[in-house]
Amino acid sequence: MNNHDVVIKISHAAKDFRVRGQCHAVLDGVDLEIRRGEVFGIVGASGAGKSTLIRLINRLETPSRGTVAVGGDDLSRLSPGDLSQKRHKIGMIFQQFGLLSSKTARQNVLYALELARTGTPESRRATVDALLERVGLTPHAGKYPAQLSGGQKQRVGIARALANDPEILLCDEATSALDPESTAEILALLAELNRTLGLTIVLVTHEMEVVRRACDRVAILDHGRLVEVGDVAEVLFTPRSAAAQALGRVLMPHSPTDARPRLRLTYFGALANSSVLGAATQGLGASLSILAGQIATLKSGPYADLIVVVDGKDRDAALDRLKTRGVQVAEEVP
Ligand SMILES: Nc1ncnc2c1ncn2[C@@H]1O[C@H](COP(=O)(O)OP(=O)(O)OP(=O)(O)O)[C@@H](O)[C@H]1O
Ligand SMILES: [Mg+2]
Repeated sequence: MNNHDVVIKISHAAKDFRVRGQCHAVLDGVDLEIRRGEVFGIVGASGAGKSTLIRLINRLETPSRGTVAVGGDDLSRLSPGDLSQKRHKIGMIFQQFGLLSSKTARQNVLYALELARTGTPESRRATVDALLERVGLTPHAGKYPAQLSGGQKQRVGIARALANDPEILLCDEATSALDPESTAEILALLAELNRTLGLTIVLVTHEMEVVRRACDRVAILDHGRLVEVGDVAEVLFTPRSAAAQALGRVLMPHSPTDARPRLRLTYFGALANSSVLGAATQGLGASLSILAGQIATLKSGPYADLIVVVDGKDRDAALDRLKTRGVQVAEEVP
């Protein structure tokens, strides 16, 4: 598989909505390329235009200007029949799951197959069984949405989205209504589907935490414009835009009683598992205290992001040791 094979290409896309005679620019000049087989995050504040952007990809919205191509085909140039075929290859899941309340889990998934008119009744039943098994829902197949937990409902949503063997899965805030445990389970399931099916996943979220855990690359959307696109580690550790800086930041309450200069230390890969902090002050007249931070795992490996204070006569020597070992050291302005 060629990792740099572009499967979704959005060029100069803009979207205006007209509300009571007034024109609102919701997306403006968006250029984006999403590669086959990657998990791509789109993150931004509420109202930034994330849902509008992801809905351009399956033509739930049409761009006011610009183009959206999927698998090399400009969606605006496809015949209605070809567009419908294309849309079957693009699954979507939602924050509120979008299940039919009068149908069981199994019937919800079956319905997607019936709509696409693929296979025979027997083959559809076999497909539904396999899908429910794949998402770990076999024991709950006969339950109605009201009898399922949020995480289970989203599993039905995923099984339904997979019904027509899509190449792309669009996820609009798919974990935003879930508790942390269900969020972790759904993200793990998405990662497994990405790995085993080679499914390209586009994941819209307002939570950088979801991007950290699940995505290979990320785009940051701010007031309808893409302000940054890159590998997750790159955007987290060397953010260029104010929006990326705000999203990536460790939240650290400002303490007016502590005026000591703070530093932000970031490091990843093997370093994050090593004793780099202890070694920095060993044998020196310096001390290092951690005020806040996190040591966690990106899809590409472990990382640490810490707010610290370094004191003592050998402070500069301790900072030099950190920098020599590959730790990024930056002044942290409260
Ligand atoms: N059909 C519509 N008609 C008019 N305005 C719309 C329409 N859909 C979206 N908007 C407006 O476009 C802007 C972006 O909306 P969108 O739903 O894409 O944002 P979002 O980033 O997904 O936000 P959230 O995180 O709250 O889901 C908002 O100001 C919204 O009010
Ligand atoms: Mg939205």
